[in-house]
Amino acid sequence: MGQELEQYKRAVEQSNIVSKTDINGIITFVNDEFCKISGYTEKELIGKNHNIVRHPDVPKETFKLLWDTILQKKTFKTTAKNMAKDGSTFYVNTTITPILNKNGNIEEFIAIRYDVTSNIMLTEALKSKEEELNFLNSMLETRVKEQTRKLRELNQNLEKRVAEETEKNREKDRLMFQQARLAAMGETISNIAHQWRQPLSELGIVMFTMKKHSIEGNEKGVQKQYEHAKKVIAKMSKTIEDFRNFFSPDKKKNSFLIKDMIEDILSILEGSLRKSAVSVELNIDEGITAYGYKNELSQAILNLINNAKDAFSDRHIDGRALKISSKREGNFIILSVADNAGGIDDTIMDKIFEPYFTTKHASLGTGLGLYIAKIIIEDSMNGTICVKNENEGANFIIKIPTN
Ligand SMILES: Nc1ncnc2c1ncn2[C@@H]1O[C@H](COP(=O)(O)OP(=O)(O)OP(=O)(O)O)[C@@H](O)[C@H]1O
Ligand SMILES: [Mg+2]
Repeated sequence: MGQELEQYKRAVEQSNIVSKTDINGIITFVNDEFCKISGYTEKELIGKNHNIVRHPDVPKETFKLLWDTILQKKTFKTTAKNMAKDGSTFYVNTTITPILNKNGNIEEFIAIRYDVTSNIMLTEALKSKEEELNFLNSMLETRVKEQTRKLRELNQNLEKRVAEETEKNREKDRLMFQQARLAAMGETISNIAHQWRQPLSELGIVMFTMKKHSIEGNEKGVQKQYEHAKKVIAKMSKTIEDFRNFFSPDKKKNSFLIKDMIEDILSILEGSLRKSAVSVELNIDEGITAYGYKNELSQAILNLINNAKDAFSDRHIDGRALKISSKREGNFIILSVADNAGGIDDTIMDKIFEPYFTTKHASLGTGLGLYIAKIIIEDSMNGTICVKNENEGANFIIKIPTN
């Protein structure tokens, strides 16, 4: 071997991990680098099969391919996973080259490698981190999904609870309306009593006269009183009918004349207004027609009139006057109920439409009158109601659309 070649050999051996085997794979040479990386001494290696550094993870096929290649006198290149004496793993980029003799037959194999353990380890660490990351990512995804599902559930529960609360509120409203209806019924009975006072005393007189005629044998007189009594009784029964109609709930919306509605209300209140010495002044434009639930609107106006009546007697007002007026303004009907009972104190002005707000003794007021009136006007009639103090009293103004 020339000197130059010897230098090449040394350069290769110094910078690489080199081993040689015979044609059967028995180690015939190792350099220091090989001993260092494998952990074996040269003595331990020489004469052993090269598979001494084989790693159990490496599949058999790899070795079959290796041997197939090099026995065909070709160079084999691979990144090999090997096992050192202490069981640790090292990776080497390996090139195995068959060395041929003069006759072209394989004499031995030389394997030249360099250490890529740290590269591979890094790559593997990276891979495992990547896997960890992927895992975390998928965990995150499932957790996000889980949270989303929980949130959705919560949302649904919330919706359910809102619906429940709404239902409860509706129930409360229903109760309130029932309460108000009971109160109205009480008032109705007292109104009927007022309406009946006069015909009842009339009947008393008729009975007395009848008895007198009967004793006198005045049959014609008896007959006349009898007819009279029948008329009075018919009138009394009509009063009941009027009340019944007035308080029965409307089944559907209808067109009705404001004038008719107000007159109906006043005919029902006639007795009690007379007793409270309230004079009523009407100022209603002819032909104003509203569309909606007549009895409900009547109820609202009745509540306003009852309030005025209460204010008159609470405050012992002289010259009690109630003004009810109605006119058209564009596409609206304006209805006003005004009294001269002193008006509403500024401090309670913004509370009077609240449910259960009352300044009256518990036995005299539930505080629902104006609340119900407001609900009826806003919800059933799409209108508004407001109040202002003027002309020594309260003026309630209702505004409802004409269509
Ligand atoms: N015309 C009015 N003049 C003076 N105060 C009024 C008038 N209308 C209402 N108020 C005041 O507003 C309060 C609330 O009226 P609302 O009709 O809602 O209840 P109430 O009359 O007290 O009780 P209810 O009508 O249930 O019997 C009354 O208690 C009263 O203080
Ligand atoms: Mg009232």
